[in-house]
This record gives sequence, C-alpha cells and structure tokens, in this order.
Amino acid sequence: MTTFDRILPLVQKALGAKPQAVQRLPWLLINRDLNARVRLIAPSSVSQEDAQRTELLGLYQSLAAELGSHAYPVEAGILFEEQAEDAYQGARPFGLPGFDNVKVLDRLATDAHWESIANIAAGAPRFVFFSIKGGVGRSTALAASAWSLARQGKRVLVLDLDLESPGLSSALLPAERQPTYGITDWLVEDLVENGDGLLADMYATSDLETAGPIYLVPAHGREPGEYVSKLGRVWMPKVTGPSGRQSWSERLNRLINRLEQQHKPDVILIDSRAGIDEVAAACVTDLGAHTVFMFAIQGQQTWTGYQALFAHWQQRGVIRDIRSRLQLVAGLVPDDERRTEYLAALRADAYALFESTYDEVEPGKVSDWNFEEDDDNAPHSPLAIRWNRGWYGLLSLQQRMVQVDEAEVAAVYRALLNFFDRALNTESSE
Ligand SMILES: Nc1ncnc2c1ncn2[C@@H]1O[C@H](COP(=O)(O)OP(=O)(O)OP(=O)(O)O)[C@@H](O)[C@H]1O
Ligand SMILES: [Mg+2]
Repeated sequence: MTTFDRILPLVQKALGAKPQAVQRLPWLLINRDLNARVRLIAPSSVSQEDAQRTELLGLYQSLAAELGSHAYPVEAGILFEEQAEDAYQGARPFGLPGFDNVKVLDRLATDAHWESIANIAAGAPRFVFFSIKGGVGRSTALAASAWSLARQGKRVLVLDLDLESPGLSSALLPAERQPTYGITDWLVEDLVENGDGLLADMYATSDLETAGPIYLVPAHGREPGEYVSKLGRVWMPKVTGPSGRQSWSERLNRLINRLEQQHKPDVILIDSRAGIDEVAAACVTDLGAHTVFMFAIQGQQTWTGYQALFAHWQQRGVIRDIRSRLQLVAGLVPDDERRTEYLAALRADAYALFESTYDEVEPGKVSDWNFEEDDDNAPHSPLAIRWNRGWYGLLSLQQRMVQVDEAEVAAVYRALLNFFDRALNTESSE
C-alpha cells in the first residue's frame, strides 16, 4: 500500500526511470492536490505532439501504478497549461531534487504553509516566543523580558497571540486594567470593516514600575464574550474586491502595523502559540520576525517537532531565509547538579538539528554562517533559563512582577536579556 510519505520518492523514481522523456519537456509540474492525489501538469504544446503526449502518458501510467490510491485514473492524470504559472493558483512550487525542469505544487487545506518567510519587518524589531511543546516558560520569559526592557527605558509593545490559550495579559496587567477588546475581537471586526474603532480600547499599559511604557494587547478583552465563536472566525481571509483576498496573517500584519503607528514601540514582543499550528505559523514565518526564540526542553518530543519543521524548510528551499532569525532558548533548566549535563545534552541535540542549516566551508574559505557545536554565539547554543523556585507555580505572575528586582530577574533570565542587549544595540548602531 502506498501512503503519503512515499509519494515524492515514487515520483522521483518514476521520472528517474525515463530521464530523456522528462528532459525533453520545457517544464513539468507534479500537482499533489488537497486529497493528496497526484496529477502531472505539462505545457499545452506537448498535448499537440503525438509522440511527446504518448511518452508522457506512458510515464503517468507507470507512476500511477506505483502511487495506487494517490493517483488518478490514467485518462484523468495529466492536465495541460500554456504557462506553468497558470497552474500555481496561490501555491508556491518547490523543486524536485534531481530534475531542474520539474516542480511540485502542494495544495494544503490551511493557509499556513510555513514556507514563505516574510522579510524582516521595517520598524521596531519583532521578537517571537515560540516552542514546539507548551508549558516551557515562554510567557513568563516574555513578561520578564518586557519588564526588563521597559526598565531600561524602552517602549515595549506586547502581543498575546496565543489566542487558543491566552494568559499573558493577566501576567502583566491586574484585572481592573484589562481593556475591553483584544486581538480576536479586532480580527473578527476587521472582516466587516469595523476594526479601526477598536484600536483605542484594545490595549492597556502595565502599572509596573518601569522607565518606558509596556503596551499590552491581549488575546481577548476583559470579558472574553462569545470567545469560541469569535475564535472560529479569526482565520477567515478577507475578500477585498472582485479578485482581492487578504489572508488572516496579512490582516494580522496590518493590525500590528497600526498598533505600531499608534504606540511607537522600540521593540515588539509576541507570545506565539506552541506547536506546528496555524497561529504559530503566522508568528514564525509571516510577521517579519527579527528573531524567533525556539524554546526547548530536553526530550525527544521537542526535537521531533523541530526536525519536522526544519525538514519542511529544507524541502521548500527557504531555510536560508529563516535560519539567521532562529535562536534556541532552553526553558526550565534544572537548577542543581544536573544542570551541566542537561545543557550539554540539549546543546548536542540542538547542534544536530541546526547543523544542516549551516554552510559547509571549503578549506581556505570562510563563511559567516558556519558554527561549531561549542560556539556560544551560534543560534543552536541554548540561552539557558534557570528553573527557579521563585517563578514556579505562581498564583499571580502579575503580583510577582510587581515585587521583582533586577537581580532576581537577571539570576534567571540573564542569557536571554543579554541577547536582547546585543540585538537591540546592534540594531540602533546600524
Ligand atoms: N524560570 C522558571 N522557573 C520555574 N518555573 C517557571 C519558570 N518559568 C515559568 N515557570 C512556571 O512554568 C509554568 C509554565 O510557564 P509559562 O506559562 O510561562 O509557560 P508557557 O510556555 O507560556 O506555557 P503555555 O504553553 O501554557 O502558554 C508556570 O507554572 C510557570 O510559573
Ligand atoms: Mg504561554
């Protein structure tokens, strides 16, 4: 039985068996549709030439025999288009290794493809707090970073994009300061051109003692309201005219740009959802992040998830677009004699993950994207956040933030805060 993961290897094998027939084609697309059934799309000129058409039919016949349920009946297995681009319809083709003139079109049911990496956003740098697993200390680290940056006088804009399990706002705001609306409300109202009216009432400033302000935009307002019904609509693309369509992450970008104009932050901190999820995809790939913090706790589940993401970025040929934005963070690092061993194991696994994204350097040449395992400035080198009793199982992180001082925050978050120092100071001297 042929299952999904065999599709591309079998396509490679079938095309590899008839290399000349493939080379004769100006281009060829492998269309893997929403049900993961495969068709070939070839130039219209081929359909008019008996010999080439017959050859292509033969090729699909042998491919279909291998693909089983993932193929179409042979007579319906080939489509023709004038231009390859006519078939794209929003999908972004990627190369099939070994064949210069063949590309794969992969149709997904979600808007989140994890494959088009937005350029770094102009304006204040955006730092995304992401992890594969939940509960690794992401939101707490974000709250501590916001506090610390604001203590230095920075204007900090914090967005809670963990829409499905929001909580960050309660970490930085006492209940009475919560605004009326949140990001979910804006995304729903924007669909009916009602979003701008919310902007004045969807943020609050923190009352922590800081030199610069912290503007916090929560996932939902003081009253979540019909949250489930609203959440079920936030992913909606917005139709903007006869042929216009704005994906939800484009809408989100528009919101962040508005908030940026409104609050003039020096830095934007974004609490992402965990996992290979649609909201997380927007945060990691679509928002023009300056840095994506990849929180990790040592264990197989962390690495399996990250490996799947990296493999996807490699396959789609975009790893070079994102690799310099990634930074590993070790959350909840044991604060006892296990610490050294734990971090060494985590570093080794992180290096195994990142190594394929580093350039291979020929003897005598240099590359600015090649790192040794023990290089502390490498993106795989974990910024360690210590597990600390004082930050564990808090009834109210907000109460905790009111009481902390620099030394307490630094004891746990120094590595992360130093990273911010380096990133923001380079930024301003550029
Ligand atoms: N440095 C730390 N030391 C000890 N406990 C911590 C530390 N940071 C966070 N915690 C605790 O770990 C738990 C998870 O933290 P947090 O909510 O910040 O994680 P998260 O990754 O944002 O989780 P979620 O995926 O649920 O949003 C909380 O109980 C928090 O108090
Ligand atoms: Mg969280």
